[in-house]
Amino acid sequence: MSLTQTILADSPQETPTRYDRLGQRLMATRALSHELAAPLSDEDQVVQAMDDASPTKWHLAHTTWFFEAFVLSQFLPGYTRFDERFEYCFNSYYESVGARHPRPFRGLLTRPSGDEVRAYRAYVDEALDSLFAGEIPDEAAALVELGINHEQQHQELLLTDILSLFASQPLKPTYRDAAPGGPAGTPDPLAFVEFDGGVFEVGHDGSGFSYDNEGPRHEQLIRPFKIANRCVTNAEWIAFIEDGGYETSALWLADGWNLINAEGWRARLYFERAQNGYGQMGLRGFRPVNPAAPVTHVSYFEADAFARWAGYRLPSEFEWEHASAGLSETGRTLGSGFLSPQPAPDDAGLTQMFGDVWEWTASAYLPYPGYKPAPGAVGEYNGKFMCNQFVLKGGSCATPDGHVRRTYRNFFYPQQRWQFTGLRLAADA
Ligand code: AVJ
Ligand code: FE
Repeated sequence: MSLTQTILADSPQETPTRYDRLGQRLMATRALSHELAAPLSDEDQVVQAMDDASPTKWHLAHTTWFFEAFVLSQFLPGYTRFDERFEYCFNSYYESVGARHPRPFRGLLTRPSGDEVRAYRAYVDEALDSLFAGEIPDEAAALVELGINHEQQHQELLLTDILSLFASQPLKPTYRDAAPGGPAGTPDPLAFVEFDGGVFEVGHDGSGFSYDNEGPRHEQLIRPFKIANRCVTNAEWIAFIEDGGYETSALWLADGWNLINAEGWRARLYFERAQNGYGQMGLRGFRPVNPAAPVTHVSYFEADAFARWAGYRLPSEFEWEHASAGLSETGRTLGSGFLSPQPAPDDAGLTQMFGDVWEWTASAYLPYPGYKPAPGAVGEYNGKFMCNQFVLKGGSCATPDGHVRRTYRNFFYPQQRWQFTGLRLAADA
């Protein structure tokens, strides 16, 4: 029975295969990408606003190529590629696969057209559907799972990349209307939750999906610490700006100080001084800043300087993971419909650990003891980036629901700030 038949069947007669649920999640993920692109014109989908960002059309094609290259060409007998030339266009960074179109020029790809890319997606979806009609080897199922998680990462990138494009447009377009945001008010004063020190297990234990960079699970010494009950807000960030934070060299790492002066950074990204206070560009267009909402679009350098100004520091990835033990791994992620981070709810405990904004940690993105990249080309997925980046935790308002976990290690370079990145303060206890 094929996948679509499985979904559409009124009363399935046949025994479901072991991987029916995987197939359904796959098709739901493929459909979500299509849905995220729906508010965008074909013109919107071609352009790349900066080297770090990719056009929507490229995301749609690259995630499709991933299934062709790593699943269908190996596990669907007789599979023929939609177009052999697409590998050069849509391979992102897999050196072992071959040469590719340079990343900064992705926005020049007016061909293949939007229609051709949609046809490419439909062709690959059909092939994936026929893969699920038969018995699926465990190795193929694992790569489908990776492909689902890969496409989810690109769904978040699609949104942040569109924001970078729309923020550069004089008409300040709205990507999509969102659920009404939380009340604009004064945030509750910050409170801290204390934790005892000890040697604790961290990292993924290998049950269920995780990226290779989340393991092996291992012991980690954590000293007594305290961590803020919510993220840093826009009101607090404005206080930092108005106190001369961006002009005070003593607050900054040398590389950060050089960067903000070379680039003229005097506020977080997409922040503008408006007539009455501050405004910010977001996926709902240009709007007044909500002082109570978490600050977002800050780089590691800015987060680190802010923490120093406030008399605190960033938590380590292990402190963050330890503090989140026992919390539900859910929050205001993409499905909540807000498309921007929302104020912390009143709560005695830790809030906003999952969803709203990715939280910069003080931890360098390094391999855990005993780390081995996955075998084959997909071994290039995470391991080769373990240099000069920092770990972020918790997911954001643009992270697809169910994608993030306690042990999840997102990573970006310390100067990057176009993702929904924010911070939470910590200190030694
Ligand atoms: C983990 C978000 C840095 O953007 O390259 C996408 C995610 N990996 N395709 C990235 C990813 C492969 C990755 N980040
Ligand atoms: Fe990718």
